[in-house]
Amino acid sequence: MTVAVYLPSEEKTHWWVEMLQGLLPGWDIASIEDIKDRAAVKHAVVWRPRPGDLATFPHLEVIVSIGAGIDHVLADPELPADVPIIRTVGDDLTQRMREYVALHVLRHHRDMPRQLQAQAEKDWHAIVVPVAPNRTVGVMGLGNLGAAAAETLSGLGFATRGWSKSEKTIQGVETYAGAGTLDAFLSGCEILVNLLPLTDATTGILKADLFGKLAPGACVINCARGGHLVDDDLLAALKSGHIKQATLDVFHIEPLPTDHPFWDHPAITVTPHVASQIDAATGGRLIAANLKSFAETGTCPDMADAARGY
Ligand code: NAP
Ligand code: GLV
Repeated sequence: MTVAVYLPSEEKTHWWVEMLQGLLPGWDIASIEDIKDRAAVKHAVVWRPRPGDLATFPHLEVIVSIGAGIDHVLADPELPADVPIIRTVGDDLTQRMREYVALHVLRHHRDMPRQLQAQAEKDWHAIVVPVAPNRTVGVMGLGNLGAAAAETLSGLGFATRGWSKSEKTIQGVETYAGAGTLDAFLSGCEILVNLLPLTDATTGILKADLFGKLAPGACVINCARGGHLVDDDLLAALKSGHIKQATLDVFHIEPLPTDHPFWDHPAITVTPHVASQIDAATGGRLIAANLKSFAETGTCPDMADAARGY
């Protein structure tokens, strides 16, 4: 079994190669750069593969995304057709996203940016906010991560809504399904969390029209993909005051270019795509288990649906 590994960082690629070699004894695992016989490669384990690389393996049977999203694989215009994709998910990824979402929702809910500004001015400015049950928070996307985030927010007492493509039942969460319910989901939302996958249907969904449907002074948290957000529309909505604050973890270009206006914006918190990174040791075990299962049975629990885009 020859496995080709690629991540944009050479150091990380070597680290993943060594770890998978330890977890899959007897398998031939190498960095894409070191593959001698491209026809022997049946498995590719990748994060943001270089366009055209995967097409050089004529007998590729499966592609593993080192992450929950598969948009970075589907973005390759030369992606070999009909090769199944496995994503990498798991309890650690979900737990980290729960923590990130809780942290930033609570921060906006308690108006911490304003409170910190008052501290900087030595201003004893007591901000009293509504209690969580009187704060409406919406989560877009109710998959592994969105459902867990919504559950966590509901557990904290927030009036929690969730929006997905198909119907869901999540205890304590008011759920909405389908494009036809988006306006009702957004109406009155004071804090919006995006956990949608990046697909044709969701690209640019965080735009002026959507912002206009949120409650005045709403906050936006994007921890899915930069491609969901129309950057200029967010800047305009912040300028008008209709959106009060935003937390952004993901960007069109990563790392976020140093001259991008988000870096210095007083109402934007930038985090460097850290909401929920796959833990390398755990991720390695998950990938090894998925590869073994795929090699033995032709499937595994974390198969993505490339036609659907997630
Ligand atoms: P997932 O399990 O695939 O779930 C996706 C959810 O989005 C599903 O509930 C799906 O609805 C819904 N959805 C998809 N298209 C939709 C549409 N057009 N309208 C309404 N709902 C739609 O994904 P996940 O594992 O929760 O991950 C979500 C995304 O988070 C990933 O794709 C990735 O981009 C991002 N992510 C970011 C980080 C980070 O560190 N910032 C870390 C991990 C993942 P159905 O259930 O009805 O199909
Ligand atoms: C990270 O962004 C992931 O898709 O897991």
